[in-house]
Amino acid sequence: MGWNSWNHFAGRVDDKAVRSAADAMVSSGMKDAGYVYVNIDDTWEGQRDDQGFIQANEKFPDMKALADYVHSKGLKIGIYSSPSAETCAGYEGSLDHEQQDAETYAKWGIDYLKYDWCRPTGTRDEMIAAYTKMHDALQKAGRPIVLSLCEYGWNKVWEWGPSVGGNLWRTTGDITDRYFAMAEIGFNQNGLEKFAGPGHWNDPDMLEVGNGGMNEDEYRTHMSLWAILAAPLIAGNDLSRMTPYTIQLLTNREVIAVDQDPAGKQGYRVSQEGPFEVWMKPMADGTRVVGLFNRQRNTEELTVNFSQIGISGAAKVRDLWLHKDLGNFRDKFSAFVPSHGVVLVRIGSE
Ligand code: GLA
Repeated sequence: MGWNSWNHFAGRVDDKAVRSAADAMVSSGMKDAGYVYVNIDDTWEGQRDDQGFIQANEKFPDMKALADYVHSKGLKIGIYSSPSAETCAGYEGSLDHEQQDAETYAKWGIDYLKYDWCRPTGTRDEMIAAYTKMHDALQKAGRPIVLSLCEYGWNKVWEWGPSVGGNLWRTTGDITDRYFAMAEIGFNQNGLEKFAGPGHWNDPDMLEVGNGGMNEDEYRTHMSLWAILAAPLIAGNDLSRMTPYTIQLLTNREVIAVDQDPAGKQGYRVSQEGPFEVWMKPMADGTRVVGLFNRQRNTEELTVNFSQIGISGAAKVRDLWLHKDLGNFRDKFSAFVPSHGVVLVRIGSE
């Protein structure tokens, strides 16, 4: 869990924006809710020095001091690079400087590296070689650094990500702050659940919650779906300017507990009728978290049959967004779900 600069700041990220994200992560209550990584995405990179070591550009006058600042808040800091000559935004990449870059990150105190594949092609073997090279370089540099991989389609990174030391990997193209883009990504994750688990996660991209392009029901759907998917929760908004509703969405403890459940199981679809989808995530304590999703334009009553989620007879149902026990239900549970919205419940004995 954390924050990344790209979705909101893109090329405008600088030292000040990262410090204020760290400050706000603490003051908003996000840190207490479990968010920890403050990640600088692309466009921080400057020129290499005479020996080939990477330097930050003028937006980041002192990366070590910035890392120290983030650490002083009890948080961790992430950075971005690519295994090519240029990053996706055309800045200096790590090609042929992997060991030097890993050492620089370790020296600065970096805790997380998003290592992005920016070429439009590449064979599986080329990707495996490039990612392994950086993984080995990080190991050699001696500082524990989370490795986030970014190839998302043609070589099925989820099938081999753990074997190259990846802790998470993108499974999709870039998200945008629109319901249809978010829904297309989120609902298409079905089937990838067998590739996720503790320490190695599918990453359907960073959150858009709070960026303004979706309504409240749509953002609630975004958070609920990402929680059911056990997806990395990397906020992508301006943390220094959040409405109370955005804070409430990002810090709902019961929803975060779904995402962060120790069993680490990624949820999946249990039924679909056109725009109505029922998804389920099995939790470590035996309860089931169920999302009733309505992808159409009008409110609709949706139902989950307990037989679809492996529960027989009666069970307790609790609404996780409302923090409310709804009572005991037998054989099925139904609820009215607003357009583009969700009802997220936890079902089972406690
Ligand atoms: C790619 C990634 C994005 C972002 C940009 C930066 O598009 O998928 O998440 O990191 O590169 O250039």
